[in-house]
Amino acid sequence: MDLKRLGKTNIEVPCIGMGTWEMCGGLSPDYTYDKEAIRALRRGIELGMYLIDTAEMYGAGHAEEVVGEAIKPFRREEVFIVSKVLPENLHYKDLIRAAEKSIKRLKTDYMDLYLIHAPNPQIPLRETMEAMEKLVELNLIRFIGISNFDVIQTKEAMSYLSKNDIVVNQVMYSLLVRDIERDLLPFCNEQKITIMAHTPIAKGELAKNEFLKEIGKEYNKTAIQVALTWLIAKENVIAIPKAIRLDHLEENAGAIEWRLSKEDIERISSYFAHFELG
Ligand SMILES: NC(=O)c1ccc[n+]([C@@H]2O[C@H](COP(=O)([O-])OP(=O)(O)OC[C@H]3O[C@@H](n4cnc5c(N)ncnc54)[C@H](OP(=O)(O)O)[C@@H]3O)[C@@H](O)[C@H]2O)c1
Repeated sequence: MDLKRLGKTNIEVPCIGMGTWEMCGGLSPDYTYDKEAIRALRRGIELGMYLIDTAEMYGAGHAEEVVGEAIKPFRREEVFIVSKVLPENLHYKDLIRAAEKSIKRLKTDYMDLYLIHAPNPQIPLRETMEAMEKLVELNLIRFIGISNFDVIQTKEAMSYLSKNDIVVNQVMYSLLVRDIERDLLPFCNEQKITIMAHTPIAKGELAKNEFLKEIGKEYNKTAIQVALTWLIAKENVIAIPKAIRLDHLEENAGAIEWRLSKEDIERISSYFAHFELG
C-alpha cells in the first residue's frame, strides 16, 4: 500500500483508507449488514487499507461497535482508527465523555486520530481544543484533527493548540467537488495538514463516467481507480472511500501502487475543471 506522512508527524498512513458512513445505519443503528461490514473491513485491512474512518454519529455509535469487532483479529498497532465527535459534544466535559464512549464501543484503549466532525459556532473553540489536548495527555487519542473546517476556522483551531498540531482536515473532495482547491488545499499544503478526502468517489457516481473509463483503459484500470488515483496523486491528500461490497472494496484497493502520467492528470483536471469551484 502507498503510504503518506500524516500531517507534520513522523508516522505514515495508507493513501486509501475505508469509510463507514451508512455501513451500520444512518443516524440510528441498523444491524442487518453487520456480518458483511465486518468481512469488508477485515478484507480491507488485509489489502493494506488499515486506516478506518468512523464517527460517534454513524449508526448512533453502532459503526464504532462494528469497527471494534472487525479489528479483533489484528494487533492494535496494525490498524489506524479515526473517529469523530459530534458538534453538539464540543464542550470540554462532553468531549472527554464522548471520546471515552467511542473508545469503549471500539473495544480498544485509544483512538489514533480524533476529529471534530464539524464546527459549532455555539461552543467556544478554545474550550474544545483544550479538551482535545487533554485527550492526548490522557493517552486516549494520539493525534488531533478537524473536519469540514474552512481556512479561517482551521487557523482559529490551530491557534488554541499549545502542545499538538492539527494533523488532518477531513473534507469533501472528489473530481465532482473541487471547492477546496481554491484556498483550503493550498493552505493545508503549506501548513502540512493532511487532507482526508471524504465522499471521494461521489457515492459511486464516478464509476459511470465515460471519460474516466476511457483513460482507465490505457492503464487497465477502472473509472473509480482513476478517480481515486487522481486524488492521491496530490502531495497531501489521502482518501477514505466506503465499500461494503467486496468487489467495490477490492477495486478501491487497486487505486494504489500505480501512477497516472502527468499528462493524464492534467487532462482529467481540465475535463473536470468546471467542478473546481463547486
Ligand atoms: N466528515 C464528514 O462530514 C463526512 C461526510 C461524508 C463522509 N465521510 C466519511 O467518508 C467516507 C466516504 O464517503 P461516503 O461513504 O459518503 O461516499 P463514497 O465513499 O464517495 O461512496 C460510497 C458509495 O460508493 C459505493 N462504492 C464504493 N466503491 C465503489 C466502486 N469501486 N464502484 C462503484 N461504487 C462504489 C459504495 O457502495 P457499497 O458500500 O455498496 O459497496 C457506497 O454506496 C464515509 O463513509 C465516511 O467515513 C465523512
